[in-house]
Amino acid sequence: MVRLVSEGMAQQPRQLPAWLLYDAEGSRLFEAICAQPEYSLTRVETALLESRAAELAAALGDGVLVEFGAGNARKVAPLLKALRPPAYVPMDISATHLAGACEALQAQHPAVPVLGISCDYSLLAQLPEHPLLQGERLLGFYPGSSLGNFSPDQARRLLEQFSRLLGPGSCLLIGIDQPKDRARLEAAYNDAAGASAAFGRNLLVRLNRDLGGTFDPGAFAYRARWEADHSRIAMALVSQQEQEVQLAGRRWRFGAGEELITEYSVKYSPEAFTALAAAAGWRAVRRWSDPAGDLSLHLLVPAAAGRGGPQGADSAGTAPVQRES
Ligand code: AVI
Repeated sequence: MVRLVSEGMAQQPRQLPAWLLYDAEGSRLFEAICAQPEYSLTRVETALLESRAAELAAALGDGVLVEFGAGNARKVAPLLKALRPPAYVPMDISATHLAGACEALQAQHPAVPVLGISCDYSLLAQLPEHPLLQGERLLGFYPGSSLGNFSPDQARRLLEQFSRLLGPGSCLLIGIDQPKDRARLEAAYNDAAGASAAFGRNLLVRLNRDLGGTFDPGAFAYRARWEADHSRIAMALVSQQEQEVQLAGRRWRFGAGEELITEYSVKYSPEAFTALAAAAGWRAVRRWSDPAGDLSLHLLVPAAAGRGGPQGADSAGTAPVQRES
């Protein structure tokens, strides 16, 4: 952590890894963001999953459902109900989050065995050998458009990692937020109640606590802006004055107006996402979007897969992606 933070602080502009935002307070603040009227991503995706659950289940086909970064695992409920998989495997880096989520889900879906794996799935070499997974086809699930919080290069590598973990006969259902007009996007990441700003500033509180930082969070303003050239929202803390802080055993100077990037949120059009997925060895076979076209759920299969992919898939690879909205 010290090395990553020092490397990020030495970058121009300074930029820290987005996962640092999610300590216990950061996770609580992210939930608060999801409840803001300006931030519709979570509500829209949940509604889409609920309204299309039966179709999604049919398209995924049989297999064990594996969710990456499950968090509170709230989004999976309609899929579990429609799919009734032989097992559900939520993965999350936070063991505490995962334990609570597994317990709640197991109570709601007693017929589906739940096998929680607390890990950094981006580094996992393979899924554990477990009787519940033996000989089962794996259905990946990655909702929430979290892929957008990685750079396009990191995102491609993560999609490759999913492909390695899930194996040849698998598929992946993934939620991707799309570009929309600047005012809407900037409002979503700059809500009037200040949840986004509190989420960003909490990073400084965490750095003070965990890495001996001396940040004054009040001396930094939060800003989110749409960078159309990169199709991304850039979230930053802007130094309000010249100042010097201690962090990870070093002194760092900030000029007035200098930014510390806390997070990017890349938005992919369906075409851009399909190209990214293809570069990672996945073929997009079907897409569902909400009525306003704000975001999409894409169903991917390994590009090398022949006939016999998930129901409704273009298994011959000759037909265009089926779109449903
Ligand atoms: C988790 N992720 C998809 C959120 C997003 O929209 O990029 C993170 C977030 N950060 C601030 N607001 C939302």
